[in-house]
Amino acid sequence: MKIYRNPILRLGSAVILALALTSLLASCKQDTSALDPGTNQPGTPIATTIPKSPDAIVEPADNPSTPAKIELGRHLFFDKVLSVDASTSCGSCHNIGAGLADKRGLATSMGFEHEMGTRNAPALANIAFNTSFTWDGKFKSLEAHAQGPIFNSLEMGNNFTNNPASLDSIATGYNSKPGGNDTLFLFKRLDVRPGDLQGVTYKTLKQQAWNGAPWSMDLIAKSIAAYERTFISTQSTFDKYNNGDASVLRNNPNAIRGLQLFTDVNGANCVSCHSGYNFTDQLFHDNGIGGVGVNNHADEKNVDKGRSSFTKNSADDYQFKTPTLRNVALSAPYMHNGRFATLEQVVKNYRDGGKNTTPYQDPRITKIKSLNLSDQDVSDIVEFLRTLTDNSFVMDKPGKFSNPWGD
Ligand code: HEC
Ligand code: HEC
Repeated sequence: MKIYRNPILRLGSAVILALALTSLLASCKQDTSALDPGTNQPGTPIATTIPKSPDAIVEPADNPSTPAKIELGRHLFFDKVLSVDASTSCGSCHNIGAGLADKRGLATSMGFEHEMGTRNAPALANIAFNTSFTWDGKFKSLEAHAQGPIFNSLEMGNNFTNNPASLDSIATGYNSKPGGNDTLFLFKRLDVRPGDLQGVTYKTLKQQAWNGAPWSMDLIAKSIAAYERTFISTQSTFDKYNNGDASVLRNNPNAIRGLQLFTDVNGANCVSCHSGYNFTDQLFHDNGIGGVGVNNHADEKNVDKGRSSFTKNSADDYQFKTPTLRNVALSAPYMHNGRFATLEQVVKNYRDGGKNTTPYQDPRITKIKSLNLSDQDVSDIVEFLRTLTDNSFVMDKPGKFSNPWGD
């Protein structure tokens, strides 16, 4: 939705942001001098809005959340025993202090036996609102995705073939080796697992969540997915500002300028892809980071072709999902291959019109170049991105994000 600098339209608008909010506040609050740079002409479309609050979470009909299911999911999420050599949990790569991305700052992930993966671990804030999962969007639900890493040979590695009786369906699209996944060994490891720091065992947790049903991958995936739906981030500095508290950015006019550049359809227009409450259109684009291979090798064989590796449609070459920008300041390095170490490098790449090394680069990226954004503009956009950090989300909350196993 566009906002015009017309008071009537502005006041009638259901969702109000940035300049609109700024001007509105000017009429009722005192110290607003830092808020309105006044650079836009009356009647010019200036901004696209970011909603003030997320939509309701839609749970699959066959997996309604319950506190007991979430609690079992938390135990599984942090349990290294889920990996074949008890070295790696989901929480090893998705760490709360990094917005549930990799706190080790790895460009691409490291799984069991220190195997290096090929992609950067995404932040999981507000993952409940996504419509597809992983950088190429090959999974359609959190339930469908959750089995993937457990079997992936570069993540948790449960796909040995030494127990053919344990054949389970191979998580489609994941890097499973032929021959089956060793789920029986996995279930056994969970059954004999000593209790958590409080002495609570899986037997008790499974009794409460699933009435004592036997382990199955379905049950494990549903419990983890229910837990992942609790990763809700709504209290960033930006959210407070967006909901009317101008004081949080009173001393940060640069962030407000950055927000305006970000949302200005005639400016950097970042918002055309990073749109909506979670700053993602849920679509796939080539945003001009260049068709480079894993760990930046310019080796054609290693090039990650993104969505087309899953759809087998060459029109999808180099298309990756627009990631959320919530808590982005905490989740360096950036992009599907961890190509950029800092937010400044990211924004400079956009400013320079992308690398233009593939025929697929989105034209919007090329257009950004024509704006001649100054170094000040770049740093203001970065300053705005930093306001998306939600300190109350990333703080370790006992009982919610803390590791019940204490390791
Ligand atoms: C070895 C590191 C590693 C481990 C362990 C790991 N992940 Fe991930 N995770 C990643 C990487 C890398 C991706 C991106 C994969 C891709 O795009 O193909 C990812 C993607 C995801 C996504 C999709 C995010 C999005 O925005 O689309 C979810 C959800 C997720 N992981 C949850 C989990 C859960 C649950 C577990 C445990 C069962 C887990 N991960 C274990 C590294 C890891
Ligand atoms: C054409 C759509 C599009 C536009 C316009 C766009 N982005 Fe992106 N952005 C993406 C996609 C797609 C990715 C992930 C690409 C990849 O990893 O290969 C991304 C990644 C990012 C990342 C890295 C996030 C992470 O977790 O790794 C940041 C930060 C970012 N964009 C900020 C911006 C800013 C700031 C602007 C405006 C200057 C902008 N984007 C404009 C589509 C876009």
